[in-house]
Amino acid sequence: MGKLTDALKKAAQERLARIERIDGKSEVKYEFIAKKTLNSKIDPRIIAFYDPQSPISEQYRSLRTNIQAINSKTPLKALAITSSTHSEGKTITAINLAISMAQDLNKKRILLVDADLRRASMTKYLGLDAHPGLADLILDGINVDTAVLDIGIENLTILPGGKIPRNPAEILGSPKMANLIGLLKSKYDYIIFDTPPIIPVTDAGVIGAQTDGVIMIIMANKTQKGVVKHSENLLKQSHSKILGYILTNIQYHIPAYIYRYL
Ligand SMILES: Nc1ncnc2c1ncn2[C@@H]1O[C@H](COP(=O)(O)OP(=O)(O)OP(=O)(O)O)[C@@H](O)[C@H]1O
Ligand SMILES: [Mg+2]
Repeated sequence: MGKLTDALKKAAQERLARIERIDGKSEVKYEFIAKKTLNSKIDPRIIAFYDPQSPISEQYRSLRTNIQAINSKTPLKALAITSSTHSEGKTITAINLAISMAQDLNKKRILLVDADLRRASMTKYLGLDAHPGLADLILDGINVDTAVLDIGIENLTILPGGKIPRNPAEILGSPKMANLIGLLKSKYDYIIFDTPPIIPVTDAGVIGAQTDGVIMIIMANKTQKGVVKHSENLLKQSHSKILGYILTNIQYHIPAYIYRYL
């Protein structure tokens, strides 16, 4: 046992020394960015797309399994992803989760909706040009089929945010939005809504209340406990059901020198 451990340690040190020589850097790197092997405009942080076999994609897959295993009275069909504050990883998690669901759920139709009408950053991460979307469906009554996008991933459809409106919360809470969600539920097996953060604006609660539940993203080493508690209260006040939590910014403890050989 001791010998094996020593041998593995030595081999790892040798590999690390070789990589350090190549990179000219001394620290062990933890990779969040995928190996961008495909020629695509999709952001390299969408690891489930570029590297479905990587340990990080495996984490998104186990998230998908956990969601399916949630014991709920009604089957979970529509989920909202939110967080307390800005930049905790909502959009990247929502995209990676939707891709893993599309890849693995045996021909289930997945719809990923950009319901962050204030930033509409999903198109940016997916490398797409501006396109009509959710806001245009509600405000201009355009047809759903002209708003949704196929990005070449089987079983996955995207509904972008569309034009940035002046009154996002009103749009998301409108009767038209409720009708649209009903229609989308009949067309797709699972719908994932990316939303703005809970504390600065009410949008996530408004959407959350119209879905089967909300998943809260918490960024490690950033979001304080009291802030999360406050967000939970806001979600409860809006009649949203919290299904669970995802911690982001956790270092995956497989150093780069091992990750490359997996
Ligand atoms: N699992 C993760 N681990 C570490 N960093 C992450 C993770 N997911 C996302 N990030 C980083 O967090 C930052 C914000 O990501 P993202 O845009 O997904 O957050 P957001 O919560 O949607 O932000 P916003 O509130 O502006 O919409 C990015 O720099 C991204 O690289
Ligand atoms: Mg976002």
